[in-house]
Amino acid sequence: MGRKPFPKGETSQLHTVLLGWYAQHQRDLPWRKTRDPYAILVAEVMLQQTQVERVVPKYQEFLERFPSFEALAEAPRAEVIRRWAPLGYNLRAVRLHEAARQVAAQFGGRLPSGLEDLRRLKGLGPYTAAAVACFAFGQDVAVVDTNVRRVLSRILAGVAPLPEREVQAKAEAMLPKGRASAWNQALMDLGATVCLARWPRCPVCPVRQLCKAAPLLSKGEGRVAEVRSEYLTKREPPFKGSSRYYRGRVVEALRRLADGEAMTLKALGAAIKPEACEGEFPWLLSLVRKLEADGLVKLTGDAGLDASRLRVSLPWEALAHRVR
Ligand code: ADE
Repeated sequence: MGRKPFPKGETSQLHTVLLGWYAQHQRDLPWRKTRDPYAILVAEVMLQQTQVERVVPKYQEFLERFPSFEALAEAPRAEVIRRWAPLGYNLRAVRLHEAARQVAAQFGGRLPSGLEDLRRLKGLGPYTAAAVACFAFGQDVAVVDTNVRRVLSRILAGVAPLPEREVQAKAEAMLPKGRASAWNQALMDLGATVCLARWPRCPVCPVRQLCKAAPLLSKGEGRVAEVRSEYLTKREPPFKGSSRYYRGRVVEALRRLADGEAMTLKALGAAIKPEACEGEFPWLLSLVRKLEADGLVKLTGDAGLDASRLRVSLPWEALAHRVR
């Protein structure tokens, strides 16, 4: 730990080559044109489980409607979920909304810059906290996602992925002082455009001469025969019939309702699973109760023994939360 992963000279050569490449080839991404911590946080949360191309338009739309922590904090939860829903993994919207309310209430609408404070915010894991600390506040922090792990493992060790903790330690040890933001994003771009999981493009890689895996990868036909599961991001659509699939269907059905409108559990069942029979009612109720516990839907009404008459909606609060 802490030991330089590479001989010093090679690390600085790597810095020069990769930062030079990034200066010329970096992707033109909207969150790279701002230092606004709010906008950067929104981007990082969206990018956690969604591909860059799908994030770009949603990021812009979301910021137009909710341009600041205050604007997001004051919005009804239902509207945040409704606008988020096309991206999926809707729990992210609830967590981001909670974080915005925390920032508004505890930090006067300004995101704290310390890693510890950032980690205390709802829904900010170590990865997101590091990304914000680095990209918004310019701190020298390593930002290691799946792509970065693959790139660093290949450069430093070879074809097999290094254990997560080891990559993290090496990533921290080799940060170029004062240039961590460009460095981390250079690693991300190399992983997204050159050092691909299945088809590494070693012949066009700027760091091939410094990479442990390049001589091994280029021996084959170019395609990595067996992609290590550690290198795959879990972005596949939910399989039909899984609970994630039906959770998504419920939110999809509810987001089509007018503001504040609800539907009966029975109507919801018909909308999300037309072939469902009476016997599946307990399943539907438990699905909806879990969504309610996660803050994604609201159940109202006391249907006594007839739960099919409970009403379900997105969580439109009676009064929108006010920050001031
Ligand atoms: N994935 C996560 N964060 C990213 C960023 N800042 N740029 C590109 N891809 C990313």
